[in-house]
Amino acid sequence: MSNTVTLTDNRTGASYEFPILDGTKGPSVIDISTLFTQTGMFTFDRGYTSTAMCRSSITFIDGQKGELLHRGYDIAYLAENHTFLEVSYLLLNKKLPNAHELEAFRLEMKKRSFIHEGMMKIFDAFPDKSHPMAILQAAVASLSSFYPDHLNANKPEEFHEMAMRIIAKMPTIAAFSYRFKKGIPIIYPNLDRGFTENFLYMLRSYPYEHVDLKPIEVKALDTVFMLHIDHEQNASTTTVRTVGSTHAHPYACIAAGIGALWGHAHGGANEGVIRQLEAIGTLDNVDKFIARAKDKNDPFRLMGFGHRVYKNFDPRAKVLKKMCAQLIDEIGIDSELLKVARRIEEIALSDEYFISRNLYPNVDFYSGLILKALGIPNDMFAVIFVIGRVSGWISQLIELKEQDSIKIVRPRQLYVGESNRV
Ligand code: CMC
Repeated sequence: MSNTVTLTDNRTGASYEFPILDGTKGPSVIDISTLFTQTGMFTFDRGYTSTAMCRSSITFIDGQKGELLHRGYDIAYLAENHTFLEVSYLLLNKKLPNAHELEAFRLEMKKRSFIHEGMMKIFDAFPDKSHPMAILQAAVASLSSFYPDHLNANKPEEFHEMAMRIIAKMPTIAAFSYRFKKGIPIIYPNLDRGFTENFLYMLRSYPYEHVDLKPIEVKALDTVFMLHIDHEQNASTTTVRTVGSTHAHPYACIAAGIGALWGHAHGGANEGVIRQLEAIGTLDNVDKFIARAKDKNDPFRLMGFGHRVYKNFDPRAKVLKKMCAQLIDEIGIDSELLKVARRIEEIALSDEYFISRNLYPNVDFYSGLILKALGIPNDMFAVIFVIGRVSGWISQLIELKEQDSIKIVRPRQLYVGESNRV
């Protein structure tokens, strides 16, 4: 039996054969790269729901089993035993670092964490009401102008230089976008602090004032970064790969990825969770909103519940649920918003409507609660997502460059416009 699929055109009876390619895990794919030359037709797949756009060995998801692996390591194992920087190293270098490699990576991140002073003009030029994502996107794109020396993405040493710069400077750019917008003095990176601790420090502290960062707060944020590091070929990763396929430098690719992630259907969901909990407001209102979520005639949806891919449970939510409980317990928060969140979670886990549709709390439900508990403003949530995701995006670009030849992404279309008006 040959490892092929035969496609028959029922209009003509002609049949065409296409090879089946097997991965190491997950569904096989039909290689239709000769479809047009064989049949003169394209496929039609809105939103690419049945299309594999690349070979990849970075992340594997099994939505039915609730499995998420990075380079073959289960996310729960990584979260329990490793830090965000270690997992970044894993994605970038295909292996976990030994002590020496980790130290060198940490030093590289610290050394590169400062940004060109000229960039202050960019932050300063944005009006106070700007969304931090707008500032972040512009600042990342501008890195190519402030560091114009190495811009050839096809030269491995130059690519490495740009990639390390982006990952290392992202927390600084993120913290500065927030502080400029608020009109509060910026805080430069502190080289005595670790990657995640330094970001919280730059976000929260004031000149000449002691800032109290609890280890559990740093650990919780580090876990949020890690849990957002990569998630296969989602919209922003596909955007980054698409821009990368044109041989653009990584600053342009990552700036484009930030744009894709900004949308509320992607990186904006955890901000949506908190805004919805704030709108519900008190325990008395919970039943009313649950009834709305269950009403077929009401478009209202409970934010932070359900997932397109994970139909049993979201493995990232499992990790963050535990971290969220630990954080809240240790810092001792007991807000009305938290009470509302707990009540909704309780109802959703026991109510027939949610159980029968596999609507479990997803990663955004718990990451929203963690970021809120850390005192991070709602409009910084997507920025936090970017800091975590950028190591994944860069790893995807490295993988793209390693493939034999880069094929520019150029989908086709089904033309439905006027034909030959003149
Ligand atoms: N609240 C109430 N009902 C829901 C919800 C919800 N959050 N999600 C789905 N349903 C219902 C939906 O109305 C439908 O009911 P019925 O079968 O009676 O028509 C059924 O569940 C299946 O819904 P669906 O739209 O076919 O499910 P989907 O897999 O296409 O949608 C989703 C997945 C994430 C878009 C959706 O669950 C949703 O809108 N959730 C709320 C927004 C949210 O939390 N988004 C973040 C997702 S995680 C992002 C990430 O991975 O980074």
